[in-house]
Amino acid sequence: MLEKSTKNKLAKIYIPPMAGVTDLVFRRLIRYVLGSYSQHVRLSTEMISSKGILYQTNPARMRLSDDEKEKVIIQLFGHEPATMATAAKIAENAGAAGIDINMGCPVPKIVNGKDGAALMKEPCLAEEIVREVKKSVKIPVSVKTRLGWNEQNKNIIDFALKLQDAGISSLTLHGRTRAQSYTGTADWDYIAKVNNALDIPVFANGDINSAEKAKMALEQTACHGVAIARACIGNPWIILQTVKHLLAETYEEISHREKLETALIHIELAYEDKGEKGIQALKRHLSKYVSGLEGAAHWRQALATAENYLTMTNTLKQAIQTI
Ligand SMILES: Cc1cc2nc3c(=O)[nH]c(=O)nc-3n(C[C@H](O)[C@H](O)[C@H](O)COP(=O)(O)O)c2cc1C
Repeated sequence: MLEKSTKNKLAKIYIPPMAGVTDLVFRRLIRYVLGSYSQHVRLSTEMISSKGILYQTNPARMRLSDDEKEKVIIQLFGHEPATMATAAKIAENAGAAGIDINMGCPVPKIVNGKDGAALMKEPCLAEEIVREVKKSVKIPVSVKTRLGWNEQNKNIIDFALKLQDAGISSLTLHGRTRAQSYTGTADWDYIAKVNNALDIPVFANGDINSAEKAKMALEQTACHGVAIARACIGNPWIILQTVKHLLAETYEEISHREKLETALIHIELAYEDKGEKGIQALKRHLSKYVSGLEGAAHWRQALATAENYLTMTNTLKQAIQTI
């Protein structure tokens, strides 16, 4: 399902934006885990406010390391075409490989501001945003969205066709409506229907939590690729396993020792990048690294309450000694 070399090809495995997760440090860790297999994987930043870019309220989110330039997608959210176009230009100048527009975020704070999934209720505005962003940048412009606002308004096929006409290069589709948020199961059959209606590459997204499931999603939807989000948290190996599985190579399960040693590297990278501030952002990952370990509840609690770099690394080292 994967070819050995991806030169000039759109990678089939996508780690889509996750606010608070796909930051520079985690992307660096993913590349470390993937090694030479990195070529098969497309990475994205967290979503970034287009207004925030203009007013520089959170410049850290857009930061790309030198080796990420022209390789990582920058995702923007916003609903003002001109603001989005200007922000996209700034992101392009910062080294983005492509601009992804968030039209799927279900969170009230975002949709109440008419951003994210709220754009599914305004297809003409969504189309105008794409056209303006496309005029402003030379790099590919993609969209990430859902099946519709709710069960009664599953307008994704018309919506996506409009965006395709406006020139998006690919679509990442989470197989749920906005109303579902993360409940129920992602509807891969519906993704297949959308993929069938479009000419551009589609990335199937939702509930892919193993290499086997990634292969199943590709087979069931016939999409160009898959986007794996939550399953990567504290588990970057799922990406390597998926690449190997799709290359028809065998892959190993990861031992607890290796998981915890990688968690230590994750902490080092975060500390190196932002000092103690970077450490607090890791807690979501750390609770997953200890999953399945004997006494996991104890270690999870100890890591959640660890106040600083030293306590956190010592806790992990103690956990390693119990293996
Ligand atoms: C913590 C978290 C943060 C997320 N942030 C974003 C985001 O910034 N932009 C976006 O388009 N989707 C975001 N998502 C949605 C994911 O990219 C993905 O569409 C969703 O989790 C479904 O895929 P999964 O079942 O593989 O997790 C986020 C999801 C989670 C769990």
